[in-house]
Amino acid sequence: MKVIITGGAGFIGAHLCRRFLQEGHEVICLDNFSTSQRDKVEEMLSSPHFALLERDVIAPLSDAEKSFLGQAAVIIHLASPASPKQYHRLDLETALVNSLGTLQMLELAYHNRCRFVLASTSEIYGNPLVHPQSEQYCGNVSTSGPRSHYDESKRFAETLTSLYHRKFELDTRIARIFNTYGPGMQAGDGRVIPNFITAALANRALTIYGDGNQTRSFCYISDLIEGLFRLATRPGLAGTIVNLGNPDERSIKELAALITSLCGSTAQTVYLPLPQDDPERRCPDITLATRLLDWQPRVGLKDGLIATIDYFKTRARVDRSVDPPTPFGAIFPPSIPVPWPNRWDCAHEARCRRNGSHGGSPCRSERRSFGSPPR
Ligand SMILES: NC(=O)c1ccc[n+]([C@@H]2O[C@H](COP(=O)([O-])OP(=O)(O)OC[C@H]3O[C@@H](n4cnc5c(N)ncnc54)[C@H](O)[C@@H]3O)[C@@H](O)[C@H]2O)c1
Repeated sequence: MKVIITGGAGFIGAHLCRRFLQEGHEVICLDNFSTSQRDKVEEMLSSPHFALLERDVIAPLSDAEKSFLGQAAVIIHLASPASPKQYHRLDLETALVNSLGTLQMLELAYHNRCRFVLASTSEIYGNPLVHPQSEQYCGNVSTSGPRSHYDESKRFAETLTSLYHRKFELDTRIARIFNTYGPGMQAGDGRVIPNFITAALANRALTIYGDGNQTRSFCYISDLIEGLFRLATRPGLAGTIVNLGNPDERSIKELAALITSLCGSTAQTVYLPLPQDDPERRCPDITLATRLLDWQPRVGLKDGLIATIDYFKTRARVDRSVDPPTPFGAIFPPSIPVPWPNRWDCAHEARCRRNGSHGGSPCRSERRSFGSPPR
């Protein structure tokens, strides 16, 4: 079958693209590389069953693109910055990719009459008052706090997806993904496991925010991919909303100690204040996933960390300066105008100038061509 994966060049997306290719499916990856690099999908471009459409999923699809994307059996919508560092850098884009971007992909699914799978997140539970979090829990989320452009836009993406299911009887499925880690993560993407591993390997201090007693549950990437694959391919799951994560809950302090010891590091830990709205506890209730998908995580934290540390010691340091091989698969228009309001453009540039955040290099909005503001 033909599968469209938005955000297919990201950490989870690249693993998922490979999994579908291995199972003999055709994959079209839509990505604008805003939080990833092209080399994540480079090796797949030599497959006749893989195509890359380099575009922003927020922008409306042209007729040519619609026909290129036609006859897909499943759309899996992963495109969104996912780490706090990235979604703060790309704050408006995050809000828009989860709202307008989700709408674009739902419309495409509606016109293709195909299945739609949304990558949602445990962040929709906010700072939860219930443990572990089951799918029935409605969350404790700030609509306007510093994380709201991610949390609330994911909640809205769930709302839109559920609406298309109820109103248009679209076969939709929603995965609420809890913290996932493993080979393929970027060293500098700001998530806790790569942060700790890169610091420990360099014998630099590991930074813990708050007192370190806050908990997270970490799911190894192969387990998550198995869950997502089953959710996307099994019949009879229309309308399903399901947690995918590992219920093995650990404190951040414990995680830091484990990573330091597995890296054979002498790095110390330093403590900084907890950011606003940082959740205190996170742990998925996976009863529903186990029942519906016959799924549960298999890789323990220690084994998963050993594989991830090994990746960071070797693959993550591969020199990226080598020219990529000529792609075989289709690459659609390399730059597509995005119809964001020009005032966004101006506000973004003003902020960049104020913060000096681009260190003299042109900011994203200067490098990209923008279309007219919508009427
Ligand atoms: N990794 C996790 O622990 C985790 C946890 C919960 C939810 N999720 C969700 O899973 C999805 C994938 O996460 P990830 O960890 O692979 O993140 P990632 O940042 O590695 O990948 C996201 C991909 O989406 C692409 N993208 C972002 N905005 C885009 C746009 N407007 N148009 C086209 N492409 C765009 C990026 O370039 C990147 O390739 C996200 O939706 C995220 O919210 C991830």
